[in-house]
Amino acid sequence: MLSLLAAGLACAMGIVSIHVLHNGLLITGMLSVTRRRQPYPPGPRGWPVIRNLLQLPQDHPWLVYSAWADTYGDVVHLEALSDHIVILNSVQAAKDLLDGRSAIYSDRPASTMADLCGFGVELGMLSYNAEWRKQRKIVAHAFSPGMLTGYHPVQEHEARRLVQGIMRSPETIISQTKTRISAIIMRVTYGYTVTGEDDPMITMQFATMDNFSLASEPGVWMVDFIPQLRYLPQWMPGSSFLRTAERFRQIEHEACWAPYLWCKQRVQEGSAEKSLVASALSQFEGKMDYEEETALVWAATSGLGGGLDTNMSTIFTFLLAMLRHPRIQAKAQAEIDSVVGSDRLPSIADRPSLPYVRSIIAEVYRWHPAAPQGLPHALRQDNIYKDYLLPKSSIVIPNIWRMLRDPELFPQPDEFRPERFENRDSEMRKVTDVLFGFGRRACPGSQFAEGSIFAIVATILATCSIIPKVDEQGQPIIPDIEYTSGIIV
Ligand code: HEM
Repeated sequence: MLSLLAAGLACAMGIVSIHVLHNGLLITGMLSVTRRRQPYPPGPRGWPVIRNLLQLPQDHPWLVYSAWADTYGDVVHLEALSDHIVILNSVQAAKDLLDGRSAIYSDRPASTMADLCGFGVELGMLSYNAEWRKQRKIVAHAFSPGMLTGYHPVQEHEARRLVQGIMRSPETIISQTKTRISAIIMRVTYGYTVTGEDDPMITMQFATMDNFSLASEPGVWMVDFIPQLRYLPQWMPGSSFLRTAERFRQIEHEACWAPYLWCKQRVQEGSAEKSLVASALSQFEGKMDYEEETALVWAATSGLGGGLDTNMSTIFTFLLAMLRHPRIQAKAQAEIDSVVGSDRLPSIADRPSLPYVRSIIAEVYRWHPAAPQGLPHALRQDNIYKDYLLPKSSIVIPNIWRMLRDPELFPQPDEFRPERFENRDSEMRKVTDVLFGFGRRACPGSQFAEGSIFAIVATILATCSIIPKVDEQGQPIIPDIEYTSGIIV
């Protein structure tokens, strides 16, 4: 009691802030010394103890965050029990903090369930530490500008196979897009050629990605609120999450190691194609310790984890936009006809000469970004921004949706209008600078993704007309604009 009183007094004096976890008994005390205690950034009023827990939006949260931005401004603060959540609603705030102060804004929030399932070791989930650096170096090198042209033939080949497949059976467009985008990533990462949509080498990875979505869903797993539950014995009632985690972990282990071992064997036999894993293995000339090898396995896995759903989302947004805007589609096709002609298909090398196609892609990214709330960052220490205190361990969410619909930057933001960029790359970069995230955690696959997306979009535009189905009266059926919720929509 005395210590609580002392803590309260010290806080009131604004010198020391003490966080005390209290469940009837004093269980933990943590002392953190800050400069003079500042207020938190504004945010919705919460309740005692649980604070804003019940106000945290579960469904399409970026829309609610955007509405809060209108009331509270660029930086919004919430608390859920003892967690602090900070939402960044403007490009300026995201750049000031996530780019400008990246040394302390580059952690990821912990997720105990995802950790138990084995996902915590993957690049996108890792804390900002030595293991992250190791994996990031491998991935950043594989997708660095000098490496990208080497991937163009694979990206173009798969884009063409996708279009052939769609023409044969348009109703399977979703599964075909998934297979062909996976095929690009598997080939570039492991030199592996996907045999079809049932190829276990990719279906295992899809299962893992589904499990990941389940395991990282906020608010679902009690162990995420009470991490000590992870030590429950497996026989105890209420511990079924441990068995789920064990099952997920086995599937993930198999999914990550199988393509890696396949590639390693080809390297040893001298028959491996050039790929991320093959190049890394040959650099080490077979002298890798177990830690280096696991870093490579996890780094390689992040290609499909980061690249599949994001690319699919983007391609489907493109198709939806073209269905709704036939004149824009026709204008892009005319550009392709005049630049590429009809004797050959467009290639990624044509990108500089097709500014309107590039504008359509930038507008697709802006209109419905694949990851509208980015990936959350976590703050390593107390930090003051514009006289507000952002507390240590805050979960920092960049509201990419809002940034890309800022009417100051993009007038009439709800409209799909590629002309807004006036064919200028400097204008389009305002979108890509935000779309792929921030600071040291910004997407390492962004330029590679842009190649795949350009190849698919240009090939579709050059060879197909995207038109709606018609109903029994011959009226076009225009699909609604509806997206799933989650990290990738
Ligand atoms: C349109 C396609 C894509 C979009 C919109 C996208 C977007 C993003 C975003 C917003 C982040 C979080 C950045 C941050 O924390 O601030 C991210 C991270 C990441 N992306 Fe992408 N991405 C795309 C494609 C790809 C591709 C093709 C790959 C790999 C081949 C990839 C691999 C990754 C990885 C590994 C991370 C985690 C980086 C880290 O935590 O250090 N992404 N991406």
